[in-house]
Amino acid sequence: MQDLLPRQKEIFRHIEDTIRGVLSSYGYQEIGLPVIEFTSLFSRLVGEATDIVEKEMYTFDDRNGESLTLRPEGTAGCVRMAQENGLIFNQVQRFWYAGPMFRHERPQKGRYRQFDQIGVECFGMAGPDIDAELLLMTYRMWQALGITDTVQLELNSLGSIAARSTYREVLVAYLETVRSDLDEDSQRRISTNPLRVLDSKVEKTRDLLADAPRMGDYLDDESSAHFDDLRRALDQRQIPYVVNPMIVRGLDYYNKTVFEWTTDSLGAQGTVCAGGRYDGLVEQVGGRSTPGVGFAMGLDRLAMMLDEKFESTAPADVYIASLGEIARTFSLMLAEDIRNTLDTCRIVVHCADGKLKSQMKKADTSGARVALIVGEDEIAGGEVTVKHLATGDQHTITVAELTEHLSKLLSKE
Ligand code: HAM
Repeated sequence: MQDLLPRQKEIFRHIEDTIRGVLSSYGYQEIGLPVIEFTSLFSRLVGEATDIVEKEMYTFDDRNGESLTLRPEGTAGCVRMAQENGLIFNQVQRFWYAGPMFRHERPQKGRYRQFDQIGVECFGMAGPDIDAELLLMTYRMWQALGITDTVQLELNSLGSIAARSTYREVLVAYLETVRSDLDEDSQRRISTNPLRVLDSKVEKTRDLLADAPRMGDYLDDESSAHFDDLRRALDQRQIPYVVNPMIVRGLDYYNKTVFEWTTDSLGAQGTVCAGGRYDGLVEQVGGRSTPGVGFAMGLDRLAMMLDEKFESTAPADVYIASLGEIARTFSLMLAEDIRNTLDTCRIVVHCADGKLKSQMKKADTSGARVALIVGEDEIAGGEVTVKHLATGDQHTITVAELTEHLSKLLSKE
């Protein structure tokens, strides 16, 4: 679990603000979800045989002896929330949420046990148009963040739930023929979650998978047409993508469209955003059959991508230095008065002892463009010394003139 230092947090905030702007331009509504849910919600919806449920959840009994889990992802909680609050039946919804998720994975660059996601979930739309909207919207997000050149879209279709189960049988039959050559994890998955073998990172297993039956050959007609329509929409907007039949996703709830936005710039943990369709999920929380589709992006990974180019903003416009006890209190009050008029002006008051020289050093490192110097003589004369930090120019003006003067000075640059 990582601490976020000011610069990192500023990058996170920039990403969130940018994404929030794009979401709002598509009419998506923000929701808030609990960080803790009943364990059974995740084991049922994410899937018993997934890595997340098998080995990555932070699960504990609460004081009533009920098994709870820190959410490893947001889709299950969102589906529960929407169903419990009557937001699904006969309705169309476009939701988004942001916040921390928790998975007990082996930490490495880009992979943390607490990480932040922005997730999007849509309900009530069965056609490929909403899948296309999600991908066009994510593309617009990358444009807004300035990273379109470093991400690529990988797409696949898992077909209908029935087609997926036919494919599963064919795949298991193939995997059995090469069982002894597969890595241990993949051997185990043949009976628990065979599609996940396709996702294996073990080279020898990957080589064997080159001859495995392809999901695309077992797609039902409706899923094929859905996938074709989606691809046509992407082509029309010239969004580049590759079809990657090996994408199956690590969560069990997907059918038809699945996708991942990946980057080469982060090493092994290169998926920055992923999602797909989950038409069977609402039924699993007791609702009527309702189509669903969504995605989530990892803020920690996006922040790493932006880190090099991101220019931090200094915390202050104005730094107030003071000499002596009376001036110290005066400067605190002066800052309040300035804020009353210039509400976007960022003012840092030197709240400590210190020689003027060391206070001016602090003023420099705060990034402020202007320092105000308050001493007892100035107070007696109703004046303040204004120092322009870049040029070193310094002059004295009356307190009454100060806000107007500052406003002019700061708006000039
Ligand atoms: P996911 O692929 O498990 O999907 O996670 C989505 C994104 O969260 C990943 O692509 C990655 O950027 C980020 N992420 C996942 N695990 C970690 C980690 N340990 N450290 C840092 N970042 C991580 C889901 O969570 C689905 N709920 C997405 C979805 C929404 N599908 C439909 N609707």
